[in-house]
Amino acid sequence: MKTLFFNIKELLQIRDKSISKVSGAEMNLLPSIKNAYLLVEGEQIKEYGPMSRLNNYDADRLIDAHDQIIMPAWCDSHTHIVYAGNREEEFVDRIRGLSYEEIAARGGGILNSAKRVQDSTEQELFEQSSQRLEEIMKLGTGAVEIKSGYGLTPESEIKMLRVIKSLSGSYPLSIKATFLGAHAIPLKFKDNKEAYVDQICNQMIPEVAEKKLAAYIDVFCEKGYFDTDQTDRILKTGKKYGLIPKIHVNQFNSIGGVQIGIKHKALSIDHLEIMTSQDIESLQGSVTMPVALPSCSYFLSIPYTPARKIIDAGLPLALATDFNPGSTPSGNMNFVVSAACIKMKMTPQEAINAATINGAYAMGLSKTHGSITKGKIANLIITKNIPSFNYLPYAFGSNLIDKVMIKGEFI
Ligand code: NIG
Ligand code: FE
Repeated sequence: MKTLFFNIKELLQIRDKSISKVSGAEMNLLPSIKNAYLLVEGEQIKEYGPMSRLNNYDADRLIDAHDQIIMPAWCDSHTHIVYAGNREEEFVDRIRGLSYEEIAARGGGILNSAKRVQDSTEQELFEQSSQRLEEIMKLGTGAVEIKSGYGLTPESEIKMLRVIKSLSGSYPLSIKATFLGAHAIPLKFKDNKEAYVDQICNQMIPEVAEKKLAAYIDVFCEKGYFDTDQTDRILKTGKKYGLIPKIHVNQFNSIGGVQIGIKHKALSIDHLEIMTSQDIESLQGSVTMPVALPSCSYFLSIPYTPARKIIDAGLPLALATDFNPGSTPSGNMNFVVSAACIKMKMTPQEAINAATINGAYAMGLSKTHGSITKGKIANLIITKNIPSFNYLPYAFGSNLIDKVMIKGEFI
């Protein structure tokens, strides 16, 4: 199947030569062609350029996009989409004055979701998660990372990862799985945290690796969850089994997690709401992508990741949703891009780079996703009639997407 988009008002995020990420001042550059064409063949981007260079209209589908902007679909590199039920009671508790940490301390939070996942069948989990996946595809997401971490027992963690694998086989978008057994300390191990870390390292990681159920390993490195020594040990074991680190750090406190992630060459370190200048300095020269999750800051009313400090230090930054039942019950990357501009003072160019090519990097997918490049997967957002790409973050809350193409097909 060949699809030719012609007269495209503006084709955004074109990268003739494939790049893996953009950093610092380059994040403010978003190459584009006005009045462009784009040819999709099968699952891939075959060709593109200015209309003046189009001389062959040979295609199965011809689409006049004269009032539309076309850009790569969003790459959401941090989600917890597989979960059971919701936590809207805790949301109301927070409105009444309890903090996220206080709710967790009395058995709510991650442990609340873990109980529900443990009590659900694989089929129930699959059905609930499918709905969320279908929703984010319509919102323009073409590649997504999904974590386990609401199982917290060997059986339930494997169950979650099997659901992620089934989702991956059932939907066209690209899915990367992350093992997050170290998301919270189960009640059973409350007085012996090390025994849970032992179980993660001696039983869960080997089983996840043997069954090839995850590419990445994650730890919630935070006061009251996993300390830096435990994080260090879990990442070291994960790496021994071929799992690459992508970790939760500096959400509430800066306790040295950034440095542990960098030491283990983490693909990404995520959250970063609380960053010291030393934390930012540590990222210089590393392969690690910092990832901001502004919907989480919005929902929990916690600080936003200091994007300006990070980008102005010459570093890259990616944006992701963190879609999960506790801190971010939303998988809307359009809102993430808006919030990054409004609350973190990122320019629209920076935010779009962060949510496409840099998001792809944070999932190990930048060779195939995140830009308009010949040979990359044809994952596209086709906007409604909007005046410019600045309008995308500006008109927050409006649905500005006309169509989404994933792997060469409209969804
Ligand atoms: O990324 N911070 C840790 N984990 C999730 C929230 C988990 C939950 O509250 O269920 C996050 O925000
Ligand atoms: Fe998260």
